[in-house]
Amino acid sequence: MFQQLTALPADPLLGIAVAYRQDDNPKKVDLGVGVYKTEEGNTPILTSVKKSLQILLDSEESKSYIQARGNQAFLDGMEKLVLGADNPLLSSNRVESVQAPGGTGSLKLGFELIKRGNPNAKIWVSGPTWANHNALIKSTGLASEEYPYYDKVNNQLRADEMLEAFAKLGKDDVVLLHGCCHNPTGEDIPADLWPKIADLAVENGFTPFIDIAYQGFGTDLETDVQGVRHLLSKVPEALIATSCSKNFGLYRERTGLITTISESPVAAGIALTHVLNIAREIYSMPPSYGGATVGILLGDEALTTEWKTELAEMCARMRSLRALLVDKLHARDVDQSFDFINRQNGMFTFLGITPEQVQAIRDEYSIYMAGSSRINIAGISNSNVDYIADAVAAVLKK
Ligand SMILES: Cc1ncc(COP(=O)(O)O)c(C=O)c1O
Repeated sequence: MFQQLTALPADPLLGIAVAYRQDDNPKKVDLGVGVYKTEEGNTPILTSVKKSLQILLDSEESKSYIQARGNQAFLDGMEKLVLGADNPLLSSNRVESVQAPGGTGSLKLGFELIKRGNPNAKIWVSGPTWANHNALIKSTGLASEEYPYYDKVNNQLRADEMLEAFAKLGKDDVVLLHGCCHNPTGEDIPADLWPKIADLAVENGFTPFIDIAYQGFGTDLETDVQGVRHLLSKVPEALIATSCSKNFGLYRERTGLITTISESPVAAGIALTHVLNIAREIYSMPPSYGGATVGILLGDEALTTEWKTELAEMCARMRSLRALLVDKLHARDVDQSFDFINRQNGMFTFLGITPEQVQAIRDEYSIYMAGSSRINIAGISNSNVDYIADAVAAVLKK
């Protein structure tokens, strides 16, 4: 049977990670894989998370299965974090959440639910979007198409074209929106556009599906989801896939949740039975550790305050790295402006250089980034920023 298979090419980003590891240039820089890093290039466990984990270790008495929908303290805490503690939706009985293995697992449950609700649904993804979105939609067997999002030539949002595309959608359409810190572009939907998207969704009947993987990495926990909250307050139905990988630093614990907002409490209860049934068919029960840890953290005021401080520090570091990189590039008299990097949010930006220039930087300087020129801002540090700016300036002036 396995002889019938042909080998698949390596995932491009994971391939970059392997090439980086094998490179023995002491000056090598990894701007590829999307994990947060400190100045020293580490991805440490947050202190607030470590304390919460310790509480879990000290109090956990069984390794029996947890309940199918996940850890209740986790689900309650995360709903409040995403929607806002005083959001009327929380007491409407229209909201149901299920813990899932990471943001990826949450997205998968969401797409499978859409397929059950409407097999003819088409998923609209931003052009470009996180590559795994396309893979997940394809694996679910749903149709998908791109809506205009990012103008790579002028490094800006294609706002008008995006709204024009949304104006043509209807009841069979689902629009996948990045809640904040768009991956891969870093270009977010500005505050004044969210109400317009909400109006179009209400008028035309398309369903928003919000992917929130970086809450707190843009400006702060509240500002980052203001637009999303407005949209959710207007539409009858929506889905939200939330990841705790980045903002809690729980990458390997696979922690996330899928939230459905339904038109009525009855519809919400029915949707929940389907999400649980889909999860049962794929992996049966969610992993416990990450959800239990976040549940403890968000249920404890002191730990929550400590986590918010740590998160704000990560966010501020990425902001300052953006500014530093822009200053260093401009100081090298490059022709183009890189000011757009300062306007953008989160962990990523496109440098806006060609695949050939990306390759040249890799060959000549051992600086690794995606072929699209997407870089992980957190891979920059005070000690490598001059080296990176030298490399980019050199290939641009060639
Ligand atoms: C836009 C986006 N959504 C979802 C995820 C899912 O993250 P995870 O499955 O690691 O929680 C990521 C991770 O990189 C992402 O960038």
